[in-house]
Amino acid sequence: MSKTAIVTGGSRGIGAAISIALKEAGYTVAANYAGNDEAAEKFKAETGIPVYKWSVADYDACVEGIAKVEADLGPVEVLVNNAGITRDSMFHKMSKENWDAVINTNLSGLFNMTHPVWSGMRDRKFGRVINISSINGQKGQAGQVNYSAAKAGDIGFTRALAQEGARAGITVNAVCPGYIGTEMVRAIDEEVLKSRILPQIPVGRLGEPEEIARCVVFLASDDAGFITGSTISANGGQFFS
Ligand SMILES: NC(=O)c1ccc[n+]([C@@H]2O[C@H](COP(=O)([O-])OP(=O)(O)OC[C@H]3O[C@@H](n4cnc5c(N)ncnc54)[C@H](OP(=O)(O)O)[C@@H]3O)[C@@H](O)[C@H]2O)c1
Repeated sequence: MSKTAIVTGGSRGIGAAISIALKEAGYTVAANYAGNDEAAEKFKAETGIPVYKWSVADYDACVEGIAKVEADLGPVEVLVNNAGITRDSMFHKMSKENWDAVINTNLSGLFNMTHPVWSGMRDRKFGRVINISSINGQKGQAGQVNYSAAKAGDIGFTRALAQEGARAGITVNAVCPGYIGTEMVRAIDEEVLKSRILPQIPVGRLGEPEEIARCVVFLASDDAGFITGSTISANGGQFFS
């Protein structure tokens, strides 16, 4: 029987590529999203992957949403914590609201989504939790103190939880993408992209969402059973950690 996977933020960008790649690898996939109904319905129509709307920043909504997915598709064996937002500004101009929004989604979202599936994974002695962090959580990025703090927190979460899950057959790993050509990155001014970002990437191009998706499919597979607490950096050589 195929394993059930939830991909948060799974209807657009990197998450959409992950949902599709997992489906192609034989998983039963549920794609969560926050509010863009039009994109989610289009994704569902094109891929046949069911979509579920709730915010990962809201613990109760996660508990309720996961229960619905499990009733529809079966126990969650693979959780991909991909949902993320940016609210960039220099720190002296950063509002408390934009700090909270990014921490609540990008860091607390991992607690809110993982906690409700953790006991089931422990009971069944199998689980895969894959967290999409970021190069900017590894190296820090000016203008992104909130985002860098949350994404660095995702790596700490991964390393600590991996130690707790190991004996229960659960692996917990992170993927740190560099600059990937999604809406989040294409929203950056073209000139800034060409003159400031691309020259920092040794391979000379943005990454593709599918390149991140392939890392996730590997980490979810039985072949990756000995890998836990790890971080895969997929950034075109921009940063080594
Ligand atoms: N793009 C990059 O270069 C890059 C680099 C490093 C790391 N990352 C990380 O990779 C992940 C995906 O990024 P992306 O570029 O694919 O982003 P994206 O294109 O902006 O898509 C974000 C997805 O997350 C969902 N989402 C946002 N807030 C949510 C919430 N509170 N609850 C549930 N879903 C929520 C969105 O739902 P709606 O469609 O409803 O808005 C959307 O499906 C993020 O964690 C990001 O930080 C991206």
